Amino acid sequence: MSFDVDAIRAQFPILSQQINGKPLIYLDNAATTQKPQCVIDAIVDYYTTCNSNVHRGAHKLADEATRRYEGARDVIAEFINANQREEIIWTSGTTEAINIVANGLAQMLKPGDEVVVTEMEHHANIVTWQQACKASGASLKIAPINDEGELIIEAFEQLLNSHTKMVAFPQVSNALGTVNPIKELCEKTKAKAPDALVLVDGAQGIAHGTVDVQDLGIDFYVFSGHKLFGPTGTGVLWGREVILRDWPVWQVGGEMISEVTYEDAKWNELPYKLEAGTPNIAGVIGTAAAVTWFTSLDMHAVKAHEAALLASATQQAEDFEGLRIIGTAKNKTGVLSFLMDEGHPADIGFLLDKQGIAIRTGHHCAEPLMNRLHVPGTARASFSIYNTLAEVDALFVALKKVKMMLA
Ligand SMILES: Cc1ncc(COP(=O)(O)O)c(C=O)c1O
Repeated sequence: MSFDVDAIRAQFPILSQQINGKPLIYLDNAATTQKPQCVIDAIVDYYTTCNSNVHRGAHKLADEATRRYEGARDVIAEFINANQREEIIWTSGTTEAINIVANGLAQMLKPGDEVVVTEMEHHANIVTWQQACKASGASLKIAPINDEGELIIEAFEQLLNSHTKMVAFPQVSNALGTVNPIKELCEKTKAKAPDALVLVDGAQGIAHGTVDVQDLGIDFYVFSGHKLFGPTGTGVLWGREVILRDWPVWQVGGEMISEVTYEDAKWNELPYKLEAGTPNIAGVIGTAAAVTWFTSLDMHAVKAHEAALLASATQQAEDFEGLRIIGTAKNKTGVLSFLMDEGHPADIGFLLDKQGIAIRTGHHCAEPLMNRLHVPGTARASFSIYNTLAEVDALFVALKKVKMMLA
C-alpha cells in the first residue's frame, strides 16, 4: 500500500476551503485534527437513522444505537490491544479520563505518598495530580527535562521509590513534539517503585502510530477522539481490569448503578460504573469511525510521510535567520515550535492567518514548561497525515513575509 496524500486530502472536505482569500493550510493539528467525510457521515447517519438512548430502550432504534455504541468500544479495544472490552471507558476527552484516575487516586493517597510527572506536561496532566496531592497530603515530584526538551531519564529514575504511587507522563509533548520512551519509563518505574501505577497521556501520541497497551506494561492510557480525526467531546480511559474494577467511581447517577434505594446505591460493573449518565453516543460512533479509517492506512507510510514533513520543516527552520526552534529532541513527532527575533508569537500567528495558514501560538496549556524553557510561549506548527511538503514550503515563504512585515 503506498501513501497518496492527495487521496487522503480529498477525504477531508474542510481542507478545500479558502481562508482570507488563500487556500487553507491547516497546521494546528496538535490542537485538533480535521475530520474525514466517513466520520462526518457516521455521525449524520446515526442522527438520521437510529438516534436513541443506549442500553435501556425496548425498541429497535435503541437496540441499533446500543449496537453501534458498544461496537465502538470493541473497535477501540482492538485498536489499542486492550485485554478486555470492559477496560475501555468512554469519557469526554483526555482531560476527563485523567480526572477519573486522579480523583480515584486522591481517595487512596496518604501524606508521604508521592506522584511523579514531568516538566513537559500539558496542564491536564499536572493540575489533576496537583489537586489530588493537595487533597490527600501527598507530594508532587517533577522529573526534569534537558534544554532540548527530552526527559532526563537518570533524574526521572532518582525520583522513584517505595513512596511513589503514580507516575504520569505524556507519550508525546504537545508543545515540543518530544516522544517519550514509554516502555523504558514504565520498566524503570516498576523496578524502583513497585507500588506505583503508570498513566500515559496519549493525547498527542495516538494519531502518530499504533499503541499496544499490554505490550507497554502500563496501567492507564488516555486519549481524545478529536486529536485522532474524530469528533470533540469524546475520549477514552483504558485501564487494566484488575485496577479499574475497584477504582472509586467518578460521577454518580444513572447508568453507573446496579441498585438504588433512598439510603444507598450499588455500582454497576465495568465499564458502566465509570460512565454515568447518557453518553456522547454520536461522538463515540464518530470516534470509532475515525479509528476504523485511521487503521485502514498503511502505518509505515503514514510515519514516513510525517517524518518527511518534520524533516523539511526542521531544515527550513534551521536555515531561517532569526528563527529559533524550541524543542529539538532526537525523537519527535511533527511539531515545530519556534520563536522569531522580529515578533511575538501572537503577531506571527495573526500574520500567518492573513495568508491562510493556521498555527497555534501561546503557552499551549503548558505554562510550567514554558517557564522551564524561559520563553513566554511559542508559535507552533503541527503536522498531520494530510499536510504536504508544498504546505511546509508555503509556511516558510509566508514566514519570510512575516519577518519583513515585523522588521
Ligand atoms: C498532551 C496533552 N494532554 C492532554 C490534553 C487535553 O486534551 P483534551 O483537551 O482533549 O481533554 C492535550 C490537549 O491538547 C494534550 O495535548
